Amino acid sequence: MLDTATVQMIKATVPALQIHANDITSHFYPLLFAQHPEVLPYFNQTNQGKGTQPKALANAVIAYGANIDELGNLSDAVSKIVQKHTALGIFPEQYDAVGSCLLQAIKAVLGDAATDEVIDA
Ligand code: HEM
Repeated sequence: MLDTATVQMIKATVPALQIHANDITSHFYPLLFAQHPEVLPYFNQTNQGKGTQPKALANAVIAYGANIDELGNLSDAVSKIVQKHTALGIFPEQYDAVGSCLLQAIKAVLGDAATDEVIDA
C-alpha cells in the first residue's frame, strides 16, 4: 500500500508525463534495446516505426499515474495488457529491465524536476 505522500507525488508527475510522453518513450526504447538487446526480438519494428507501441506504453504509464489511488479504474486496461504480455511470453525479470530504463528515460527528459523523491515514488 502506498502512503499518501507517495500517491500525491505520483499524481503530481502526471502533467509533466503528459507533456513529455513522446520524448520519454523516444529515450526509453533506445536505452532498453542497448542495455537489454535480448528483448529486441519481441518487438514488432513496424509498430515501433509507426509510433503505436511507444504511444501505447506512454498512455499506460500516464493512466497508472493518474489512477494510482483508484486502481480499479484500470482493471480492463490491465487485463488487456496482461493478456498481451503473457501471450508474448514476457518474463518477470524483464519488467525490472523496462522499469529501470523507463526511470532513466524520465530522469533524462525531466532533468532536475525528476528529483530522487519523484523517482523513488
Ligand atoms: C510497466 C510495464 C509495462 C507496461 C505498462 C506495458 C504496456 C504495454 C502496452 C499498453 C502495450 C500495447 C498493448 C496492445 O497493443 O494491446 C504493450 C505491448 C508490448 N509490450 Fe509492454 N508493457 C510493459 C512491460 C513490458 C515488458 C517488460 C516487455 C518485455 C520486454 C514488454 C514488451 C511488449 C511488447 C513486445 C509489446 C508488443 C509490441 C509490438 O506490437 O511490437 N512490455 N505493452
